[in-house]
Amino acid sequence: MSLRASLLVFALGFAAFTAQAAEPIVIKFSHVVAPDTPKGRAAEYFKKLAEERTKGAVKVEVYPNSQLYKDREEMEALQLGAVQMLAPSLAKFGPLGVRAFELFDLPYVFPNKETLYRVMDGDIGKKLFGMLEAKGITGLAFWDNGFKQMSANKPMRTVEDFKGLKMRIQSSKVLEAQMKALGANPQVMAFSEVYSALQQGVVDGTENPMSNLYTQKMHEVQKHLTLSDHGYLGYAVIVNKAFWAGLPADIRATLDKAMADTTVFERKIAQEENDEALAKVKASGYTQIYTLPYRDRVVWQQALLPVHKEFEDKIGRDLINSAYLVAAQVEKEKAAQTKAPAAKDKPGPAKAKPAAKPEKK
Ligand code: LMR
Repeated sequence: MSLRASLLVFALGFAAFTAQAAEPIVIKFSHVVAPDTPKGRAAEYFKKLAEERTKGAVKVEVYPNSQLYKDREEMEALQLGAVQMLAPSLAKFGPLGVRAFELFDLPYVFPNKETLYRVMDGDIGKKLFGMLEAKGITGLAFWDNGFKQMSANKPMRTVEDFKGLKMRIQSSKVLEAQMKALGANPQVMAFSEVYSALQQGVVDGTENPMSNLYTQKMHEVQKHLTLSDHGYLGYAVIVNKAFWAGLPADIRATLDKAMADTTVFERKIAQEENDEALAKVKASGYTQIYTLPYRDRVVWQQALLPVHKEFEDKIGRDLINSAYLVAAQVEKEKAAQTKAPAAKDKPGPAKAKPAAKPEKK
């Protein structure tokens, strides 16, 4: 081979090598909700930060609306490495064998968002993420959505109104017990199937924060909505553990920071998105909206509190008591600030004494 030919072969080889070296690391981020929801917008925000800050070394592909996988399938896909990142709702970790996440599904356990954030960002959140490691999953952040509202084709004002109603739920045993405590028949169903199930009368109603209800057009097939704030829906952003651990350290640090910044953004927009969705549902005229008065919330709470006791063993009494204590602490701080308890907070068990000694920190 002449010198020229050798140089050419070398140059081509080098070009191919650098092209290969420049291939971005792809993160497939699958989720089940619409892009214009708190989770959907945050996924796009993370993509932007991650791609900008790694200068293109990382490419995030966001797949919304169950485009790639439905609820249960996406967990399996993550474990198998077919996708790298998800943000399932906290009610969907039970089937993985980590039932403690169902703490967040307990009805009326969190009287306000401050309590929630402290629980998520403190020892309880760390403990929950620790449980994922054995499943080949790493937890990165807790994202917010909001308190859930009840919808159906008949009014739901009293607990008796739920008798016999077929209510779609996420795959959580706590939510199953919650609906049963109200006298309803719970039906587990993937999120992507809810609209048509409501439309065809396979189920009568459901529960979700307003942003999910509105963006899936569920209000078009639900005549009644009760603003009950009876439970909470939030997310854990999770990644395939081996994938995450295998990233170059500098890239992982940049992505961790991008995720932390995205979480701040996500929690800021969550309430706004839900408020806007409520206004849009009101304006649409499809659904009659009823706000559960405080005195009736207390009655609903009485009917639902036995669910806390029922799940003490499955979730962990220490974990539940720790959440009660955080709620009580937040309440105390609020009272000290205002010299009176915040009346707009939901009645929660925070004022009740913990049933047992809280776990040691
Ligand atoms: C649901 O299935 O109702 C929700 O978990 C959907 C979601 O991800 O917000």
